[in-house]
Amino acid sequence: MGRDVFYITTPIYYPNDVPHIGHAYNAVATDFIARYHRLRGEEVFHLTGTDEHGLKIQRAAEAAGMEPKAWVDQMEPRWREVWARLDIAYDDYIRTTEPRHVTAVQRMLRAVHDNGRDDIYLGLYEGLYCVSCELYYTEDELIDGKCPIHGRPVEHVREENYFFRLSAYTDRLLAWYGEDPSRIEPETRRNEVLSLIRGGLQDFSISRTNFDWGIPLPWDPNHVCYVWFDALTNYITAAGYGSDEGRFARVWPANIHLIGKDILRQHAVYWPAMLMAGGVEPPRQVWAHGFLTVGGKKMSKSNATGIHPFELLDHFGVDSYRYYFMREIQFGQDGSFSWESMVDRHNADLANGLGNLASRVLAMLGSYFDGVVPATPGDDSDLPKVIEESRRRYDELMGTLALGSALTAVWDIVGRANQYLVEREPWKIAKDDGRRDELAAVLYTAAETLRILAVLISPIMPNAAAALWTQLGIGEPLDAQRLPHAARWGGLAPGTRTSKGDALFPRLDS
Ligand code: MSP
Repeated sequence: MGRDVFYITTPIYYPNDVPHIGHAYNAVATDFIARYHRLRGEEVFHLTGTDEHGLKIQRAAEAAGMEPKAWVDQMEPRWREVWARLDIAYDDYIRTTEPRHVTAVQRMLRAVHDNGRDDIYLGLYEGLYCVSCELYYTEDELIDGKCPIHGRPVEHVREENYFFRLSAYTDRLLAWYGEDPSRIEPETRRNEVLSLIRGGLQDFSISRTNFDWGIPLPWDPNHVCYVWFDALTNYITAAGYGSDEGRFARVWPANIHLIGKDILRQHAVYWPAMLMAGGVEPPRQVWAHGFLTVGGKKMSKSNATGIHPFELLDHFGVDSYRYYFMREIQFGQDGSFSWESMVDRHNADLANGLGNLASRVLAMLGSYFDGVVPATPGDDSDLPKVIEESRRRYDELMGTLALGSALTAVWDIVGRANQYLVEREPWKIAKDDGRRDELAAVLYTAAETLRILAVLISPIMPNAAAALWTQLGIGEPLDAQRLPHAARWGGLAPGTRTSKGDALFPRLDS
């Protein structure tokens, strides 16, 4: 069992269009978690990519008058460009049109096909088909016998497809989840999946003959692989399935597939069953987050709620962007985006909170100690205790992906530190030459708090953390810091030369 590496994945996104803030929500959360685990000294493998086959992509290409491959080739860089601006530090980027993936999918298909249990069989797909939708409908979905979307007559179609015998996996899936309920989180999603499985599973078709933009089945190239069977396999392709067994043993099974709730069935039912059929262990955890809405509505291009991340990044900057979405929405729940709440968060937590703390402390070190961290004669402040306690909560909450609460735990330190300055009034102490020791103690405490804050915020705000670290003038690189050690009180060496740089978070007009 792959125990060496913390392996976390995003879904692979459909490049039929450019990303919106809903996709970015998923990417930022994954990156936050991945960076946090790196900070703990773990070897991390963070995978993302694009899901480039299937009818949806073929149609988008056709609408643009392009070949599907040419379409995805010009689209994929537009996704990567957004991830770069969002500081998404993935370790690998997979495209399902890459040869390594085609090989892995065909190998997986073969493994299931040849498992001796007849799990893939040729069957007849018969149904009512809307050519405009390219979808099958059941009788009761039709309106007046016509397609509910287009109002056009449907055709009776019979197509030979290969099926995956999902129905044979009901008991094994129930046993799998029974062994360890944390395999699906949060609990509401687990219950949803369990009732779906208990309700009885139907075999699903894993091949198509009505279009050709996909991976041919190795034993019958007239069929292309159904896009979900193809896409899910990306998670093992990138881990070395069938190409690097040594690496595969170290990396697989994935620790977390972080997905949106809309693709839960595919990840928590189809995927583990496919893997069981192919003789591969299922992932350790599927974690489904909620949906981001705009003005209470589902995001979409057609109702003008499809916001591109750049629209916000240009205004708020990347750190504020990442912080807002993770802090504002309880992870696991749906949450609404609004410009106003983003400005409020930015001003309250970042400009007035952390930013103000940093600029005050660095300015005072500059004025009273020529920027040099003073030796402290000792201080009776409760900050070391507050930090230790918050750091412990942060760790616990990151462990359960309570991402917003984990940030709240860190901001408890910010709040307490700002309050400490108000209580101690170092600007008054500075007026009295007889109180130099006291001044040194207060500013050491405040500067040390900033050092620990820089470490703790580095997974969510890599830029602000780096800027703060530079301002503090610490010699050791920030990315060499490891939790929990780096959060221990007293790490800041007296004599360190600080400098007051630009404000970390300029205030924004509301
Ligand atoms: N290609 C499939 C996934 C295959 S994984 C083997 C797919 N792609 S997608 O581009 O449509 O969605 C990618 C992810 O973005 C999904 O997790 C989906 O839940 C998420 N989101 C899309 N819109 C979203 C919101 N409005 N809010 C939050 N997440 C959203 O599905």
